[in-house]
Amino acid sequence: MGCEGCTNQLTESLYKKLEQFIDELPEKEGALIAVLHKAQSIFGHLPAEVQQFVAQKLNVPVAQVYGVVSFYSFFTMTPKGKNPISVCLGTACYVRGSDKVLQAFKEELGIEIGETTKDGLFSLDALRCVGACGLAPVVMIGDKVYGKITSKEQVKSILNEYR
Ligand code: FES
Repeated sequence: MGCEGCTNQLTESLYKKLEQFIDELPEKEGALIAVLHKAQSIFGHLPAEVQQFVAQKLNVPVAQVYGVVSFYSFFTMTPKGKNPISVCLGTACYVRGSDKVLQAFKEELGIEIGETTKDGLFSLDALRCVGACGLAPVVMIGDKVYGKITSKEQVKSILNEYR
């Protein structure tokens, strides 16, 4: 059973960290993007409560915060999975069929790009060149690089390592 008190304490300490960052800003005006970056690095994603907190602290409308979060693709409102999967769609990987690899992950996991599986185990993203073109097509799970992924069977066996 989880410890609700512990979770609350943890969340509270994350908010404190963010609050300290905001309080130490020399200039609050125009700092929204920097604050959201910091918030995402602290919380891992930007849920509505965090956006409200930022809006209140910076004295800007929540709608403005939401607008920025949804405009920039590097901000996310969904928590990443325990094992974030990134399929490289850079040129070298793409010409070797990484779009099919991406499709195989989508089918295996039942999620689209930017989504997380219900059990929280995997999230799926696409990346531009990760600098390992010699291994194309390349997939990363967390920090681990998998190269020369060409079949559905490979995709399945990689996923099984984490299941
Ligand atoms: S294009 Fe995929 S690693 Fe370079």
